[in-house]
Amino acid sequence: MKNAPALAAALVALALPLPCSAGSASLTIDAGAPGPVINRNIYGQFSEHLGHCIYGGIWVGRDSKVPNVDGYDKAVIDALRELRVPILRWPGGCFADEYHWRDGIGPIEKRPSVYNSHWGGVVENNHFGTHEFLNLCEMLGIEPYVCVNVGSGTVQEAMEWVEYMTSDSDSPMANLRRANGRDKPWKVHFVAVGNESWGCGGSMRPEFYADNYRRYNTFIKDYDPANKISRIACGPASDDYDWTDTLMRLAGKQMDGLALHYYTIPSGDWAKKGSATHFGRPQYLSALANTLHMEELISRHSAIMDKYDPQKKVGLIVDEWGIWTDVETGTNPGFLYQQNSMRDAIIAALNLHIFQSHADRVRGANIAQMVNVLQSMILTDGARIVLTPTYHVFDMFKVHQGAVSIPVSLKTPNLADTQYEIPEVSASASRGADGRIHLSLVNTNPDAAASVACTLDGAPLGPVSGTILTASSMTAHNTFDDPHAVEPRPFSGARSSGAGLEVLLPPLSVVMLNL
Ligand code: AHR
Repeated sequence: MKNAPALAAALVALALPLPCSAGSASLTIDAGAPGPVINRNIYGQFSEHLGHCIYGGIWVGRDSKVPNVDGYDKAVIDALRELRVPILRWPGGCFADEYHWRDGIGPIEKRPSVYNSHWGGVVENNHFGTHEFLNLCEMLGIEPYVCVNVGSGTVQEAMEWVEYMTSDSDSPMANLRRANGRDKPWKVHFVAVGNESWGCGGSMRPEFYADNYRRYNTFIKDYDPANKISRIACGPASDDYDWTDTLMRLAGKQMDGLALHYYTIPSGDWAKKGSATHFGRPQYLSALANTLHMEELISRHSAIMDKYDPQKKVGLIVDEWGIWTDVETGTNPGFLYQQNSMRDAIIAALNLHIFQSHADRVRGANIAQMVNVLQSMILTDGARIVLTPTYHVFDMFKVHQGAVSIPVSLKTPNLADTQYEIPEVSASASRGADGRIHLSLVNTNPDAAASVACTLDGAPLGPVSGTILTASSMTAHNTFDDPHAVEPRPFSGARSSGAGLEVLLPPLSVVMLNL
């Protein structure tokens, strides 16, 4: 690479680790052949009544000493506003199939307490319910995505909930909502019919669930012509291709989306997943390899969907994804509280690239979960918050939301000295409404920089600006005492060269370039 010495000097100026040796990749960006729009809902989030996602995370209550806006943690909602969260899934997860929405409406002090059997056996006081969720979404401009209870609920309960949220008529449920202080209905465009109905949502067989899906779908009404609801069916657990085939065959014509759940388990073993911050190169590599399995899952589930739905009317929604590690020592195992490292940032970026490369079929994705649970954006401790490396990736990548995807052709070596096939470089490009091209790049190599020779076809190469997220160690993370250890910084490692661009990606880095 011609400018390597200058780039090395720039890395020194940024106090970034110097490469041991730079691997080379080449990338062609075909700006003249735009692809499908990247559905902004690919950048969706998930919030469940689990651990401290809701209570002590999003919601602290109006009487809390933690600075709050009508009960919502102010620092948390400010950070979420900045992130431009497009869609938020609630109330679960497994919790959704034991949630009875009537418990969570009316005066807070009169709401009944229930037992949260899935998550830590704690008492759920229902202080955060339909109004609190939908008002949060409204306040932050987020699309609410509500999961109705199929496992332990009834069709009538689901039907009435939708009426309560979306009807503006003189109907019993709309009037109940008015009596509870909300005159106008909310906009709710996404409803999921159960969660993991093959497991915690009822241990159903696909045929039985497909019939149930059709039944619920019949009674989930569009009360407002301007509020057309997209119905999302419970999809497969990772590689259960039979589930997808059966659902598409029996109910594909009645659904708008099919939800896939897949988590990155670093070790591949649910019984001993591995630590969030104490790991070495082997666990880093296995976590990346398990993450990249998402590509195969999406390709194969999409191929099955193509068979029944060649026009791609049904979206594949990656409803739950992210890295799932062992919980932090001393925390309730049922609360799924884990730290979030530079490894997680790489994993988030790789997944988002995969989703974007399937933008024709993948219309939504919700990382699990938004606050204090699994691969979260934000960790809280009283009034203190930490923005995780994953938050920063979502923040850097938000320019891709709703942009037009641009095909990229990438030639990259795989990482050496490992049994896994892990490309050293990953890339994705889009063109935003402002006409600018956004190119995100990842160097998965923890030890060496990667040089990328980029050619831009079909558009002039204007000035380039960039942001980088990197760290000197794959385990680097932000803590309450050191909240800025892993943060984006300006990136100056890209140089124009003729019709192209030469980029030197430091080891273990995520870069966003705006061209
Ligand atoms: O996100 C945690 C749990 O993982 C969800 O409740 C469930 O749907 C999945 O198994």
